[in-house]
Amino acid sequence: MPLDIEKIKTDFPIFRNTHRNNKPLVYLDSAATAHKPQCVIDAESKFYSEDYGTVRRGIYFLSAMATEKYESVRKLIAEFIQASSPTEIVYTRGATESINLVARCYGESQLKAGDEIILSEFEHHSNIVPWLMLRDRIGVKLVYVRSTRDWRFDMDDYSDKLSERTKIVSITGMSNVLGTMPDLKAITALAHAKGAKVHIDGAQLVPHMGINVKFLDCDFLSFSSHKMLGPTGVGVLYMKRELGEIMSPWQGGGDMIEYVQFDGFTTNELPYKFEAGTPNMAGVIGFGKAIEYINSVGLINIMMHERETTEYVLRRMLETEGIQLYGPTTAENRGSVFSFNYKDLHSHDIGSMLDFNNIAIRAGHHCAQPLMGKLGVISTARASFYLYNSKEDVNILIDALQQSERFLKNAVR
Ligand SMILES: Cc1ncc(COP(=O)(O)O)c(C=O)c1O
Repeated sequence: MPLDIEKIKTDFPIFRNTHRNNKPLVYLDSAATAHKPQCVIDAESKFYSEDYGTVRRGIYFLSAMATEKYESVRKLIAEFIQASSPTEIVYTRGATESINLVARCYGESQLKAGDEIILSEFEHHSNIVPWLMLRDRIGVKLVYVRSTRDWRFDMDDYSDKLSERTKIVSITGMSNVLGTMPDLKAITALAHAKGAKVHIDGAQLVPHMGINVKFLDCDFLSFSSHKMLGPTGVGVLYMKRELGEIMSPWQGGGDMIEYVQFDGFTTNELPYKFEAGTPNMAGVIGFGKAIEYINSVGLINIMMHERETTEYVLRRMLETEGIQLYGPTTAENRGSVFSFNYKDLHSHDIGSMLDFNNIAIRAGHHCAQPLMGKLGVISTARASFYLYNSKEDVNILIDALQQSERFLKNAVR
């Protein structure tokens, strides 16, 4: 069913409130963080004002109710990504923390010097640095799969680099710079054939495409609430149950234990073993509302809408003189994230000029400096789209780019 964007926009207070220079907000930075529908804001606020109590600790009514809500979100998340059980869902502070958890708890206990970890050239710093830190601690080797000339994941290079030495393959589900979406099913099958485990950095994929972890058969999946209409400070690490069982916890403290004595402790069952301390309860409850909202709009409708938007953006960008687009130029296996440069303007100038028109984009290296090096640039401008963006937003972006250039030319005359 086509999305009614005008109606969807009314669910997001930011679009009602943020007008600057007499222009409505055109928000094109959802790859960095997505805006929140009123129902998510209300759910957090209601929790604090009416239902607040600590989870899994108190024996009183408020605590029991908070626990029930908090755990029901875990079930919702498990259903959303088709995990076998809520016990495979670990709450974290975000995708970054989830990836660090895998590197620390799986990497340190299961890998040894000389083992190899395969990453790709598309990775965000969050899916490079934790592995570099593991390398520095235990001496594993990082191997990077290169991209093809048209900025796709190079399956041939991957097959060549995969070997019995490979113990972990950790790949982005969607590049936050280029929108590239590797074939995760094929990547996982090939890795498993060599006995390697697969972690998917789903920070950009899960909000847009949904994911079925059983179908993919991935071992780990990381993602963040704030990129999918939920609050900040909440993330998810999906892990196959048998892997969670063999991993040691990383943070110690309240709730991750079964029993503590002065000279030792035993760990709690999954997933609590990896959840030390009082968690972000309101954030999790808000995240649950965000998933309900996405479900009510329909992930399939969101996917179809974004596919249409992607085709339109590609057409407009490719036909506009002076736009240098980085990344795949067809909508096939590509998400709605577009990195570009325009004429000889610096990306920060592009960002500032668009901001004057109340158009919010990102400019910089997008936490992907190694990829910038491959692209041969220091930074790019990036426009990223979500369910609340329309084709009109694309037109406004292109018009504003062209106007900005005219304005700058006149300014220097
Ligand atoms: C591909 C990718 N991975 C990981 C992250 C890190 O997510 P977070 O900052 O929510 O932990 C991001 C954030 O931009 C991302 O785009």
